[in-house]
Amino acid sequence: MKNILDEIMELKKERDAIILAHNYQIPEIQDIADVVGDSLKLSQVGKESEQRTIVLSGVRFMAESAKILSPEKTVLLPASDAGCPMADMIDIDKLRAFKAENPGVPVMCYVNSSADVKAESDICCTSANALKIARSLESDKILFVPDKCLGGYIAKMIPEKEFILYDGYCVTHNRIKREEVLKIRELYPESPILVHPECSSEIADMADFVGSTSQIISYAKNSDSREIIIGTEMGVMHKLQNDNPDKSFKLLSPSLICPNMKKTTLEDIRDALKYGREEIVLDEDIRVRAEKSLDDMLKLS
Ligand code: 13P
Ligand code: SF4
Repeated sequence: MKNILDEIMELKKERDAIILAHNYQIPEIQDIADVVGDSLKLSQVGKESEQRTIVLSGVRFMAESAKILSPEKTVLLPASDAGCPMADMIDIDKLRAFKAENPGVPVMCYVNSSADVKAESDICCTSANALKIARSLESDKILFVPDKCLGGYIAKMIPEKEFILYDGYCVTHNRIKREEVLKIRELYPESPILVHPECSSEIADMADFVGSTSQIISYAKNSDSREIIIGTEMGVMHKLQNDNPDKSFKLLSPSLICPNMKKTTLEDIRDALKYGREEIVLDEDIRVRAEKSLDDMLKLS
């Protein structure tokens, strides 16, 4: 009997597919993926890839972004119920109401959002390029959706502009408690604390570095510290440990697990390739308008 890894490799060839995995995916998937990265990297690589099929091992908005940018390719989301609770906190009606309360103000939308929310926004950003995108906008007043934590971080870093924030947040990153940071500081006073901007402002203010998952990974690689504290989803620990066998990494809180990022299994990847599921299909009018928001972001990245 063939083992599952051989099956995946064979099916990948048959379908002319590339496997893209987010930094939070389970280690077995990161190990077989062609590319592992943050949301920005996955959208860039998906668009540039030559394969006819993209298997996006992550959550729904990531697969939708790949489809928005590569309409001619087949994009597969192996675990069809892997969503992002933060992305689901806003929908088109809520966004329209938010815009109506603030007429004429441009909308900057975090990539953790549905295709129709992207279509109704002026430009997208990821956590890796949010500061650059916000600075590039001419307006000194910006509506930011849906993450109030990333939005609050941008607002703090760019005080010359006014940001009006929607009330969404990441349930996983918002589980970190102030007491956990204080305790780990006491235990490891010399160790830098690296966190994701989806953490609350209280936690981000206590950290030594704030960045996207890939920015955390590269900061850790370049750091002289031998012991580093990580304040983002535990999936990043796999790459951190592989890249830096001489360093030790501690998770800031044991609650840093995103259940949706843990839904995809190797069997799901195999079945996605075998049966072509779940294929992402988008309304063409929405796709075209969302493409503009994502393309404008990529041009500035
Ligand atoms: P990154 O773009 O930093 O990988 O973040 C995506 C995400 O969903 C974090 O929770
Ligand atoms: Fe969404 Fe948070 Fe999970 Fe990222 S970690 S996919 S923002 S719920």
